Amino acid sequence: MSPRRRPTRPQDLRSHRWLGVETLRAFGHRSRLKQMGYDSIDFGGKPVVGVINTWSDLNPCHAHFKQRVEDVKRGVLQAGGFPLEFPAMALAENFLKPTTMLYRNFLAMETEELIRANPIDGVVLMGGCDKTTPALIMGAISAELPTIFVPAGPMLRGNFQGRALGSGSDVWKFWDEKRAGAISEEAWAEMESGIARSYGVCMTMGTAATMTALAEVLGLTLPGASSIPAADSSHSRMAAASGRRVTEMIWEDLRPSNILTEGAFDNAVTALMALGGSTNAVIHLIAMARRAGIDLTLDRFDARAREVPVIANIRPAGAFLMEDFYYAGGLRAFIARLDARLDLSQRTVAGVTLGEASAGAQVHLPDVIRRLESPVSSHEGLAVLTGNLAPRGCVMKPSAAEERFLRHRGPALAFDSYDAMAAAIDRDDLDVTPDHVLVLKNAGPEGGPGMPEWGMLPIPKKLVRDGVRDMLRLSDARMSGTSYGACVLHVAPEAFIGGPLAFVQSGDQIEVDVARRSINLVVAEEEMSRRKALWVKPPPRLSRGYGAMFAAHIQQADTGCDFDFLQRGEPLPEPEIH
Ligand code: FES
Repeated sequence: MSPRRRPTRPQDLRSHRWLGVETLRAFGHRSRLKQMGYDSIDFGGKPVVGVINTWSDLNPCHAHFKQRVEDVKRGVLQAGGFPLEFPAMALAENFLKPTTMLYRNFLAMETEELIRANPIDGVVLMGGCDKTTPALIMGAISAELPTIFVPAGPMLRGNFQGRALGSGSDVWKFWDEKRAGAISEEAWAEMESGIARSYGVCMTMGTAATMTALAEVLGLTLPGASSIPAADSSHSRMAAASGRRVTEMIWEDLRPSNILTEGAFDNAVTALMALGGSTNAVIHLIAMARRAGIDLTLDRFDARAREVPVIANIRPAGAFLMEDFYYAGGLRAFIARLDARLDLSQRTVAGVTLGEASAGAQVHLPDVIRRLESPVSSHEGLAVLTGNLAPRGCVMKPSAAEERFLRHRGPALAFDSYDAMAAAIDRDDLDVTPDHVLVLKNAGPEGGPGMPEWGMLPIPKKLVRDGVRDMLRLSDARMSGTSYGACVLHVAPEAFIGGPLAFVQSGDQIEVDVARRSINLVVAEEEMSRRKALWVKPPPRLSRGYGAMFAAHIQQADTGCDFDFLQRGEPLPEPEIH
């Protein structure tokens, strides 16, 4: 967005146009900074660092950002910069409905425009709760100013009667036990008070921990930043160091495009597999890559999944939690374990390569970060399936599914909506067997809307009571990164726009073969044609405001669910100042 000339003098800084010139407008800008109590010595000739803070009373994962931002500012001041903090949408995974994914692109747009429109030379992004990471980064990629990401860090381990509890993963597990009558109301209430013990993001390898780790692998954080627990004092020191570093990056003119290369995204895909990370990361990485002008496809994920086993022994794929991962050596040690599979020459915001950033890192707990030769699971962390049910692909986590579902044929039990599914799933007279394939339609990007995390459909109560804990489930929805089971997700194109999923009826046979990467509906061509001819597109789910814009521009899962107009077009010019 600004001319690519490395600044060597204050006059070369982008903010100089706002603050350094002798115009009427610059007079106004300076006088308004003085209105806040700043003096010329605070900002005159200094790099202005914007700090985008996603703190909110509605986001418990970012509760510490109110204080942590002071550490970031301290670092900026130490390095001779001038920090200015401004808020952006908090996207709390736990509170925002119907789903934060509806608003990921909203935050991405807000981030891009905040950066472009304001008198800043570089930016610190403070995020971590699920969609905040990709959203902030997507916006910053399009804005293209020197950028560093400060991850929120995982919360402490949960605690329940002396046992470590993991966000999400253990909730789903114990909820099924409760539905089966195996857990008392008192124990359930005790768990409610023990599962989230501190600020910070979910401490399983859910979407938050996955995406912050991938931000680090991409080179957008300081080395080791993503694994530091939010409540550890190292987190404050990392935040201050990030403030110092971004100020230096401004003088070095080190921008996202210098870091986010095809090789960097390849590294992120590799790390995703070895982390046993969230399926959501597939969508977010594709969206981020496309913002950077890189055509990352589902095939790349599948190819990497076949080569790279899961070595991070973290729930839901493994046994431990993010606090253990930090004590085991954190992401630097993980990268060192994975070094033969990564391109270590990629640059990072630290000014060193990925290899230099992880040099000398040791694994202290070998069962938490395994060797490639002794992976957590013999199954892949991800598989991309295609077939007549998902011509543009869908994803599944073989390592999280019961073995028998990796090759399965069974009758569909299909639901047109989440409400229809919820009304039926606990009925004792539901006609369902453990071999049925539960199918949820109209939960995709446009149909959800926003592709909610409904893909881990509940096991019918009558089967839960019989001890059934996994079934093959199929939808155009996503699922939480903390979830598990034989869930086939992200079916593209989605049912709501007339994808083949729309034509599945209860009783149809569905075949999944993970080894062959196939998913098919066993229905005769003529019958499918008949059903298609009868299909009518449902009316838009949201017909005004942001929802209407979302419906008009959202893309499918295989291309990252970005808005079409955000992924195309020439870079915008600098704003005029008149
Ligand atoms: Fe914020 Fe899980 S709810 S990271």
